[in-house]
Amino acid sequence: PIEEYDDCWLRYDAVADEDRLASYRTRCANVYASTGAPELGAVRDELRRGIEGLLGREPHLWQHPPRSADGFLAVGTPGEMEVVADSVDVDAVEALDDGGFHLRSVEWEGADCVVVTASTDRGLVYGTFHLLRHMALGRPIDDLDVSEEPTNAERIVNHWDNPFRRSVERGYAGQSIFDWERLPDLRERYFDYARLLASVGINGIVVNNVNTQIPDREGANEAMGELAGWQLLESRHLEKLTGLASAFRRYGIRTYLSVNFGAPEKVGGLDTSDPNDERVAEWWAAKADEVYDLVPDFGGFLVKADSEGQPGPYNYDADHVDGANVLARALEPYGGRVWWRAFVYGSHEDRAVQQYDTFEPLDSEFHDNVTVQVKNGPIDFQPREPVSPVFGQMPDTGLGLELQITGEYTGQHVHACYHVPMWKEVLEFDTDPDGHGRKVKELFTEEGTGLAGVGGPGEDPNWTGHYLAQANLYGYGRLAWDPDLETATITDEWVRQTFGGDPAVVETVTDILHDTWPAVIGYSTGGLGLMHMMYNGSARLENHYDPGPEEWPGYHGATEDGIGKDRNSNGNGYAQQYPDALAEMYDDPETCPRELLLFFHHLPWEHELDDGRTVVQTLYDNCYAGVEEAERLRERWRTLEGKVDDERHRHVAERFDEQVLQAGRWADALSEFFHDYSCVPDDEGRVPLD
Ligand code: GCU
Repeated sequence: PIEEYDDCWLRYDAVADEDRLASYRTRCANVYASTGAPELGAVRDELRRGIEGLLGREPHLWQHPPRSADGFLAVGTPGEMEVVADSVDVDAVEALDDGGFHLRSVEWEGADCVVVTASTDRGLVYGTFHLLRHMALGRPIDDLDVSEEPTNAERIVNHWDNPFRRSVERGYAGQSIFDWERLPDLRERYFDYARLLASVGINGIVVNNVNTQIPDREGANEAMGELAGWQLLESRHLEKLTGLASAFRRYGIRTYLSVNFGAPEKVGGLDTSDPNDERVAEWWAAKADEVYDLVPDFGGFLVKADSEGQPGPYNYDADHVDGANVLARALEPYGGRVWWRAFVYGSHEDRAVQQYDTFEPLDSEFHDNVTVQVKNGPIDFQPREPVSPVFGQMPDTGLGLELQITGEYTGQHVHACYHVPMWKEVLEFDTDPDGHGRKVKELFTEEGTGLAGVGGPGEDPNWTGHYLAQANLYGYGRLAWDPDLETATITDEWVRQTFGGDPAVVETVTDILHDTWPAVIGYSTGGLGLMHMMYNGSARLENHYDPGPEEWPGYHGATEDGIGKDRNSNGNGYAQQYPDALAEMYDDPETCPRELLLFFHHLPWEHELDDGRTVVQTLYDNCYAGVEEAERLRERWRTLEGKVDDERHRHVAERFDEQVLQAGRWADALSEFFHDYSCVPDDEGRVPLD
């Protein structure tokens, strides 16, 4: 059966402007692209599809320069194509980093050409997508002279997909797209997914959940397809990986696996997984041989160890360096990499404090092919957190920045919440203003460093559950490629490619996206740096969607006398983990940024802020301002009726109806909670009292 699903931002709608169209036709209706590597198959397919859509007719594909044409598009490396070698600075092209590309408009033997070239085949894929994006945005191509290289070497998506049973942890777009039962047989959808990823520069994909124990209940039924993630390392399943790897390879994307630290026991039948035991090291090395034999460009392993029930080196009296390095040594001969998550907590009363304490002392001890993957904040993808103090303070360790693409704590794709402004805030953060002064975005330029985005799409026809959440996947890739890109630029690209160029639509959708995050922060936290105000639930796949502030006193610190947590020099000293300038700023409630105030300080409910309002009144106000903003978002979306096709319009409109309803519930629940503790009435009388 032909599967129906959305093209997302790769719609390639016909170009309306006649002059543009004429110039695009001259230079792109004939395509001379090199052949050979799998990536070049992808290039040709994409050009066929993209040019047909944009220009209204299929391009002619040539194996040699089309001498009779007025112009043509040439795609290849300088070594392979004379027209390319003649048209560009070959040394400069060859010096481009892996993935970098060069686009140039030239006249060659009387023909008007565009040349797309690169130092690697992967670069040709990115260059092709860049050109198509350029045309989809209606930009001129008569005078192109563009060179780009990815800023971050590693640009990875982490799927939290549970193989076999096909559930997705924190996934809000249906079941997993990966059909392990049928693999290594391929679905068309894998290729279309790879296209989406490659079009924004993603070069790695982890295909299974970091929680490799799932299903972790007794009596999981193998016959029902209930195999756990760790079992992917079993020889009988590894072959399945070859299928996925071949689909992604075509688009320059390397495939990775999440593995269980206890695999030597679970998979290998050893009596220990102690990283310092020789047999364990040998087992990992042999496993790596086996994997690379099947998938020669395999990316490596992602590990969640000593965290939320996953085994780790602590089980064997070893530390994280021992744990990561034993895997790193096994992968090293093949150029593979270990992504070792820093999301370790449980032994300290406050989770925020633990990561820096655990990892900073280990700086410089990890192998070169280990990347320590650190969440953006010290807690867990909350609507707003301070930047983790690990960043900038482990100069001799390859670090990865883990961001959450999926909206676990931002409305779970029922609510609209655009994450790009939040990620920009993180990337632009100066980790040491009075010292080395490096911003977060400057920390990932070395080999083996980069970004990991959690949460890939699911089976829903629109891939992400909420249609507008596609913008988060798009924006994640674009920022991973170039963290200097401005939010407005990314939004504009996405909106135009997704909804077309009608100025009213572009302006409205852009404004909506930019106003979503502040709205969500407002009604779901009250602002001021509070977090973990949500309901947890008891099952493994807890809720995290509904309000439930009474569950988390340890995080928000609400008591009868005030709210917030003393993560400062009078409290648990978390603020002191930062370099001095930041530590001082956070330590003093007068200088602590207001949006993080209660993260660092427990303050009386009636403590007065600089605008004269009290803490509790500000919390009430922020909650209800969030609701009002959600209502405005809904109204603005309604104005697009008839301007956006009915199906997409209705879908988003319905989600906004629900968001407004839920925002109201959140604001009421949080305000009631604040009122119960503070007994201070709201000046505006909005808090429902029982
Ligand atoms: C959060 C999330 C879990 C996830 C964990 C992680 O706690 O709720 O589902 O497993 O983060 O990042 O490992």
